[in-house]
Amino acid sequence: MDRRVEPAPVSAPDAMLPSIARVVRRVRELSDTWTLDLVSADGGPLMRYAPGQFTMMYVLGVGEIPVSISGDASDATRLVQTVRAVGKVSEAVTKLAAGDTLGLRGPYGTAWPVADGYGHDVVVVAGGLGLAPLRPALYQLLAERRRFGRLILLYGTRRPDDILFRRQLEGWRHQLDMEIAVTVDHAGADWRGDVGVVTKLIPRLRIDADNAMALVCGPEVMMRFAASALQDIGLSDDAIHLSLERNMKCAVGLCGHCQFAGSFVCKDGAVMRYDKVRRLLALKEI
Ligand SMILES: Cc1cc2nc3c(=O)[nH]c(=O)nc-3n(C[C@H](O)[C@H](O)[C@H](O)COP(=O)(O)OP(=O)(O)OC[C@H]3O[C@@H](n4cnc5c(N)ncnc54)[C@H](O)[C@@H]3O)c2cc1C
Ligand code: FES
Repeated sequence: MDRRVEPAPVSAPDAMLPSIARVVRRVRELSDTWTLDLVSADGGPLMRYAPGQFTMMYVLGVGEIPVSISGDASDATRLVQTVRAVGKVSEAVTKLAAGDTLGLRGPYGTAWPVADGYGHDVVVVAGGLGLAPLRPALYQLLAERRRFGRLILLYGTRRPDDILFRRQLEGWRHQLDMEIAVTVDHAGADWRGDVGVVTKLIPRLRIDADNAMALVCGPEVMMRFAASALQDIGLSDDAIHLSLERNMKCAVGLCGHCQFAGSFVCKDGAVMRYDKVRRLLALKEI
């Protein structure tokens, strides 16, 4: 008698199945960066998400990449994602025009713990495109503005032309109770703001560090220096939150591509508390 037991079929959780989304708006943000507004292609409801989460964007026949959501989580009418063209798939995503469709999986990953900042000052530190994953947190912080103490955004880019969401930042600076400082690495004579890396703005902060939370996103080296500067002004490691990037394939903790020592960035991150990752961030090749 054949006693072979068939292995249980590997379940294909819904999380692995892309739904089809349609581009309804495409806006050029920078020379290499576009924002796409997406709706469900069949007119059904869109995925709901929390600030800080990401999706897997899939261009048919080209490939799939993780991309953070950059829109307002309270807006159920569309999903907004901001993409820099750096290679094959991201370039294909940024070339999608209004009416084009793509596959979308998610949302995945952890969220910015915005509610932990209730009653506290909140410092948001962004470098370059890192402002995109932080924008949903900024929308939430502004929507619930009265629940927080001071709200400070420190943003650094290479050049003035690389400032993402520039008009929106100007609007926020003028209309809303948020302190915004923008610094650039290189500037021409017409730049009146700060020059230098964003971490240099941190020692200038006059905040009650025992009563403050920081959200940080940008290139990994910038996040390391930012976290260290935040520690120097008195923030504890568990009040600092970073969003990490690692290569991803499955995004659901199966393939191991995003392994970060004992964690998978796709499900234990991308947003992680600094005390959980500090030691590992100091090591290369992890
Ligand atoms: C959780 C998470 C969230 C992300 N959110 C965003 C986002 O909101 N917007 C966005 O544009 N990208 C985001 N990324 C990065 C994005 O996934 C990569 O840019 C993309 O996977 C590159 O794939 P590709 O096929 O276009 O390029 P590849 O062919 O894979 O790479 C082309 C070249 O670009 C370099 N490269 C790859 N990734 C990056 C990168 N992140 N930055 C700079 N150079 C890179 C490679 O080293 C290579 O030299 C995120 C990544 C993760 C893990
Ligand atoms: S991407 Fe597969 S385990 Fe994280």
